[in-house]
Amino acid sequence: MLRAVYPGSFDPVTFGHLNIIQKAAYFSEELIVGLLSNNAKSPLFSIEERVNMLREVTKDYANVRVEVFDGLLIDFARSQNANAIIRGLRAITDLDYELQMSHTNHRLDPNIETIFMNTCTEYSYISSSMVKEIATYRGDVTGFVPQYVVGKLEEKFVGK
Ligand code: PNS
Repeated sequence: MLRAVYPGSFDPVTFGHLNIIQKAAYFSEELIVGLLSNNAKSPLFSIEERVNMLREVTKDYANVRVEVFDGLLIDFARSQNANAIIRGLRAITDLDYELQMSHTNHRLDPNIETIFMNTCTEYSYISSSMVKEIATYRGDVTGFVPQYVVGKLEEKFVGK
């Protein structure tokens, strides 16, 4: 049985992320969604905002927990007693970077396996960056993110 960590920036969480959370939760005894707090990227949403959004949209999953981490993913996975790291693959273009990360993490701890899950076709093109770009220009993001997140994006861009 998996005790898995699903790490990411989630700025913001999309239907693509939720699709992976749903699949990974099905195969896991416990799924810990790990939100990276020390990311070099400059995020639109603060850590508090992102953790709140993640907790809200995963509240119906009894075996899903959201935690914030900084430092190395492998150390976070170890601290959670996880035996797996879940990463979503949208397209083949994701693979280079993901394989590099997977091999590196395996070298750091061979007892923690990275498992790739593919995002279902209908979500395979969605990215947080695209969602933010659309929201910046007041486009309709309802097909890409949960309604709760739509509201948070609207709050960000209201009056701008
Ligand atoms: O959602 P993202 O931005 O694609 O997630 C990337 C993430 C958080 C998984 C990655 O940046 C990460 O693991 N960062 C933690 C630092 C670390 O462990 N680096 C070495 C991994 S090879």
